[in-house]
This record gives sequence, C-alpha cells and structure tokens, in this order.
Amino acid sequence: MATRTIAPLTLLIFLCTESITFSVVSLAYAYPPSYGDDSGSCSLRDDLVPVRREVYDDGRIFDISHRYREEMPAWGSSDGLGQFLWLPKSMKNGSLANNSEMKLPTHTGTHVDAPGHVYDHYFDAGFDVDTLDLAVLNGPALLVDVPRDKNITAEVMKSLNIPRGVRRVLFRTLNTDRGLMWKKEFDTSYVGFMKDGAKWLVENTDIKLVGVDYLSAAAYDDLIPSHLVFLESREIILVEGLKLDGIQPGIYSVHCLPLRLRGAEGSPIRCILIK
Ligand SMILES: *[C@@H]1O[C@H](CO)[C@@H](O)[C@H](O)[C@H]1NC(C)=O
Ligand SMILES: *[C@@H]1O[C@H](CO)[C@@H](O)[C@H](O)[C@H]1NC(C)=O
Ligand SMILES: *[C@@H]1O[C@H](CO)[C@@H](O)[C@H](O)[C@H]1NC(C)=O
Repeated sequence: MATRTIAPLTLLIFLCTESITFSVVSLAYAYPPSYGDDSGSCSLRDDLVPVRREVYDDGRIFDISHRYREEMPAWGSSDGLGQFLWLPKSMKNGSLANNSEMKLPTHTGTHVDAPGHVYDHYFDAGFDVDTLDLAVLNGPALLVDVPRDKNITAEVMKSLNIPRGVRRVLFRTLNTDRGLMWKKEFDTSYVGFMKDGAKWLVENTDIKLVGVDYLSAAAYDDLIPSHLVFLESREIILVEGLKLDGIQPGIYSVHCLPLRLRGAEGSPIRCILIK
C-alpha cells in the first residue's frame, strides 16, 4: 500500500522538478522576475502549462514587443493599464466557445504612431496606421545603446555616428536599465528625443524607423515639439515601448506589423528581431 502511494508522489516531484528546471532555463534570458507571471507552476497536468517565450529558435528570433498585461504602464496613469480584456461569452457560462473582448488606448504598450497623432490635418486626411509603409517597418535594423546620462539631443545623435544609409534604428536607453516598461507607474523622467535630437536625425541621417524603449519617442519636456519634427514629413515611423532587454547591440532584421485600424493614429504593434 505504502509503495503504491509513493509512486504517484515521485511522479509529481519529477514533474515539478521538470517545470522548475524549465523556468530556470527561461530565466537565463534575463527578463525581470515580474514578467514570469506563470512560470514555475507545478501541476499534475504539466502538459497543459503553456510555454511563453521571449526568444525563439535557439536565440535567432527575439520578441521585442511587450506582453499586454494589466500592470503594464499606461500614459499618465499611476495605476497601470488596468483591465483591458473581458470574457463576455464563456464556456463556463454555457457558450459554445470563449469569446473575449478588449478595450485599450491605441498608444498602449509596444505601439506605433501615425502622422495623424500630432497633425490634425494629417488625421483628417486619413494618414492612419493603415497607411504606414510596411517596407519601412520591415528590414535591416541597427540596435544601438545611447549614453545613459542624457536625453537624446543633437549632440548625442551626432556622437552615435550612425552611418548614412541606415534606415531603421532601435535606440536602447536608460529606460531599459531602469526597467520602466515593467513598472506600473507612468514615469515622466524617461529618456527620449529632445527637439534638437529629432531635428538632427531628420536632417543628417536616413533613418525612417525610430524605435525606442518607453511609451514615447519624445522626451516628456519636448513631447509635442519632437513628435512634430519626426512626423512632419510623414516618412518617419515611430515605434514606441519596445522590449530591448538583454539583446546584443548590432544589426538585425526587424519585423513590425501594426493592426490595420482604419482611422486610428496609433496601433499596438508586434515587433520581432531576427539575427
Ligand atoms: C474558456 O473560458 C473559461 C471561463 O469561462 C476559462 O476558464 C477557460 O480557460 C477558457 N477556455 C479557453 C480555451 O480559453
Ligand atoms: C458568468 O455569468 C455570471 C452572471 O452573468 C457572471 O457573474 C460571471 O462573471 C460569468 N463568468 C464568466 C467566466 O464569464
Ligand atoms: C530626460 O528628460 C526628462 C524630462 O523630459 C528628465 O526628467 C530626465 O531626467 C532626463 N534624463 C536624463 C538621463 O537626462
């Protein structure tokens, strides 16, 4: 009798050890602990634990979008995004299938800005996220680290020595070190482009895709001026709120796909980097 009860127990321990080993392996990719909301769980139905990944194919593909979650930061909120998903039709309540609904500001999490964001006449003319150029949003890209002690000014831009011809740049800043996208409270002290930095980029580089690691490409103090400089030509696309933790600087292929939201000046966007 005793051995019969031990056997399933041993199995359970084995399964638990398996899942613990697994979560250690996924932590090796160095994502903040707050991220692992569902790792390390130990259950008898181990095969029903979904695998959530940041890196695919042995380090070839990096997911640089943030997972949408209630406690992610939202513009101007000290409380985070909050509930954005509901399940109005559920199998538990007798429906044939589960059907959820979502409601969230289009500039939430990893997202893209269309020209209509800060130019009302562009908005009225229909320059929405559906008109953004997928050739700009997809192609070779440079991931660079910017100096940690300043916002992105003209001087900083100049010092980065980004060669002409580079069309897509993801700027990793102090925001990533501070883990700002992992903090629920919106923080106005994030690093972004000052107006002169944006102007320098427009006038002296061929960059058309600007990626940043917090909710706005523009520093808070130059919020509208920097956006105006970037979006005036309608050639530059801003991708904001990227997850650049733990990725080596260098050249990748970036792939970003916004939703085709007609009439929207912003959209959640899924971005990946491929080595
Ligand atoms: C269906 O909805 C129930 C809640 O009613 C939820 O617990 C379950 O996980 C959902 N199933 C799927 C497949 O999403
Ligand atoms: C099921 O319906 C009840 C009553 O309308 C509601 O309170 C409950 O939240 C629903 N459950 C789910 C999982 O949708
Ligand atoms: C960047 O600018 C913000 C205000 O927009 C400021 O609070 C922050 O301290 C600056 N960061 C650095 C590193 O200078």
